[in-house]
Amino acid sequence: MDLNNPVLETERLYVCRMDEADQEWFYRLNSDPEVMRYTGEDCMTSLEQSLQVLRERPMRDYQKYGYGRWACVMKGSNDVIGWCGLKYLDDLEEVDVGYRFFKEFWGQGLGTEASRACVQYGLNELGLEKIIGLALEENIASTRVLEKSGLSYDGRMDYEGFDVVRYVIQSQ
Ligand SMILES: CC(C)(COP(=O)(O)OP(=O)(O)OC[C@H]1O[C@@H](n2cnc3c(N)ncnc32)[C@H](O)[C@@H]1OP(=O)(O)O)[C@@H](O)C(=O)NCCC(=O)NCCS
Repeated sequence: MDLNNPVLETERLYVCRMDEADQEWFYRLNSDPEVMRYTGEDCMTSLEQSLQVLRERPMRDYQKYGYGRWACVMKGSNDVIGWCGLKYLDDLEEVDVGYRFFKEFWGQGLGTEASRACVQYGLNELGLEKIIGLALEENIASTRVLEKSGLSYDGRMDYEGFDVVRYVIQSQ
């Protein structure tokens, strides 16, 4: 990522586009079973897979839509804490906010800080009319982050074979 050219900043974070140089930490994050527990995805098993996913998901999304999941980096230390951001879901034709951080950064309000900023950026800067959030109901941290980002509960749905809760925010 290029810290000199962030997509947005929060009080404690730079939020930047990912690139191929993010392969190593992206692999470490996505191969931790505790991090992946409620994501519905399998743990990554190789650095090659990490590079492939970076190319096919966030990097492709930036090109196609102008936004995607972004790296979150602590100001001051420049520690990468994980990713947060917006993703256009082709199957639902809706934009979803999501986040995934290394465990050592959980519980400090960073998920809320990053998610709020991404939602506001989507509504105010990108002009999106609606942003949704999907989570397994038992993922309390994630559903709290959605609520604290201004999204409201909008029922349950089946997504990719999982029974998930759906949250939504509409532009004014
Ligand atoms: C989801 C995630 C990003 C939350 O990040 P975070 O920085 O820990 O979140 P915050 O510190 O902003 O906390 C948000 C709220 O969740 C609560 N919370 C956090 N972890 C919790 C836990 N394990 N159990 C219950 N509540 C929890 C916090 O208390 C806070 O609520 P409060 O303000 O009412 O006290 C982080 O847990 C994570 O990366 N999880 C693994 C990946 C994942 O599951 N992503 C979402 C998939 S849908």
